Amino acid sequence: MKKYISINDISNLADTIQQAIQLKKAPFAFEKLGKHKTLVMLFFNASLRTRLSTEKAARNLGMEVMVLNVNDAWNLEFEDGAVMNLNTTEHIKDAAQVISQYADVIAVRAFPSLTDKMKDESEWVLKSFVNHASVPIVNMESATAHPLQALTDAITIEELKIKKKPKVVLSWAPHPKALPHAVANSFVRMMQSSEVDFAITHPKGYELDPSITKNTPLFYDQSEALKDADIVYVKNWSSYTNYGKIESKDTNWMLTQEKIGQAKFMHCLPVRRNVVVEDAVLDSENSIVISQANNRTYAAQIVLKKILENLEV
Ligand code: CP
Repeated sequence: MKKYISINDISNLADTIQQAIQLKKAPFAFEKLGKHKTLVMLFFNASLRTRLSTEKAARNLGMEVMVLNVNDAWNLEFEDGAVMNLNTTEHIKDAAQVISQYADVIAVRAFPSLTDKMKDESEWVLKSFVNHASVPIVNMESATAHPLQALTDAITIEELKIKKKPKVVLSWAPHPKALPHAVANSFVRMMQSSEVDFAITHPKGYELDPSITKNTPLFYDQSEALKDADIVYVKNWSSYTNYGKIESKDTNWMLTQEKIGQAKFMHCLPVRRNVVVEDAVLDSENSIVISQANNRTYAAQIVLKKILENLEV
């Protein structure tokens, strides 16, 4: 693997999931692979799971890890040809090349603005690192995608499904803040590539990018969508059409125990309790969010392993 920008960088999904499950059984089996190799993790935004699980994954492979909260460093300029006489101090062209002197792999988290759709969709931060760094780049959640989360989700479904082809439903839920589309986008793409019966449900006005959802069945009636579901993945996102705006805070869309029945509950976390989902669901034995969070390590580890193996070629 040369980079991990989107789930399209996985050449054989089923094999990769199985390899991640094997890594989970023997996490230190490849601890020599990353010796004298360094992962630099760059955070433009906050993180709990991604930061800790990716660091753990790298250390399991014997790598050194350096973490930089970019907002504590120089203010970066991304515009080509910019006259830098205002607030930016260092151009990404220089910064990415410099970081590449210290890193064998660079991982980047950079959320969208949710105000400028075209700019967000250009993935200007992530693509700038891809273009100007001289080492592989890993996406730790960008403006439009969260491929480490999606791989985690696929691993978790493979481990915990009780049917060969489970019915998986992605349900929108209310949230007080406008949130990105990245988790939902990557989950939709992952489910389209998986052996599942998949549907999406959300209120009108919350349609995701149609170039991603394509012909995935869509229900505006949540209870109709949830009928006979085996796995319910709940996530809020802001409007894509009315870009970045909150169109509804309809509390009727919160996931409750009554709605989910015996289905398993998934969420990428962090989650707003009793807004997105009620306590009774999160605290039930059908909630698999902690197993999901645990699998973040093995998703990151299989990705880093494949990148390290490619460095050696
Ligand atoms: N799910 C996820 O990416 O969590 P963090 O934002 O805490 O990294």
